Amino acid sequence: MTAQILDGKVLAQRLRAGFREQCGALAVRGVRPGLAVILVGEDAASKVYVHNKVKACEDVGLYSEKLVYPADIAPAVVLDKIAELNADTKVHGILVQLPLPAHFDEAAVLEAIAPKKDVDGFHAENVGALAQGNPRFIPCTPYGVMKMFEQSEIDLSGKEAVVIGRSNIVGKPMALLLINAGATVTVCNSRTRELRAHTRRADILIAAVGKPRFVTADMIKPGAVVIDVGINRLPDGKLCGDVDFDAAREIAGQITPVPGGVGPMTITMLLANTIEAAERESGK
Ligand code: GUN
Repeated sequence: MTAQILDGKVLAQRLRAGFREQCGALAVRGVRPGLAVILVGEDAASKVYVHNKVKACEDVGLYSEKLVYPADIAPAVVLDKIAELNADTKVHGILVQLPLPAHFDEAAVLEAIAPKKDVDGFHAENVGALAQGNPRFIPCTPYGVMKMFEQSEIDLSGKEAVVIGRSNIVGKPMALLLINAGATVTVCNSRTRELRAHTRRADILIAAVGKPRFVTADMIKPGAVVIDVGINRLPDGKLCGDVDFDAAREIAGQITPVPGGVGPMTITMLLANTIEAAERESGK
């Protein structure tokens, strides 16, 4: 059996068309959702992500600001900028691209963002709300994965879900969302003993480990839903996920490709969160 492909690109395009309409309706009321993106340093991947985030805002009609600082900037400069953006009525969402340079206290920077503008959902208050099953902003990548489940009518209740990866950006919020949806959730990492024994039980397998083709076909339960969050650059310049896609698609029931799976959904859900923030602020 060859797996059904879960196409994030098509879903992202459809959602973005809806966002254009939402922005049109807000414009009638004099509201234009705005996103500020802060980039510190020269990380090549971060530069691409930030560029794509700002471009996506332009595509659907959001206001955006990009603030770029050199890697050796004093953290106080960035904290002052965040305080300014917290008070700026043009800006409904603030995102600080991670990772930050080593001399930054990442948690302190994330806590400086006003929770109502924290469209990444990384502020402790928003993480707490998600953990309590009452989310205000859902982190964009796991939110995108949940949208893909919803779109494909994949029921999570009572299912065995295994997440490989325990990051604050993907693994932990993904696990919380699956718990909230009624799945039985196991969170593994690249060093989990007998990893295969865990993954072979998974009806839903989420790979967010950051290692190319880490998940091999023998780790997958036949018919499982396999979600590949990894975006790894190979020495030849090509992108590949955390899953050995060609072999896995012969075992899985449904699978996301890389590129064209979860990737396009992440920025799409950032737009969704920013529009949501603007709607809340305008009292809708
Ligand atoms: N770095 C990698 N993914 C993300 C993300 O979703 N948000 C931010 N702010 N930084 C990231």
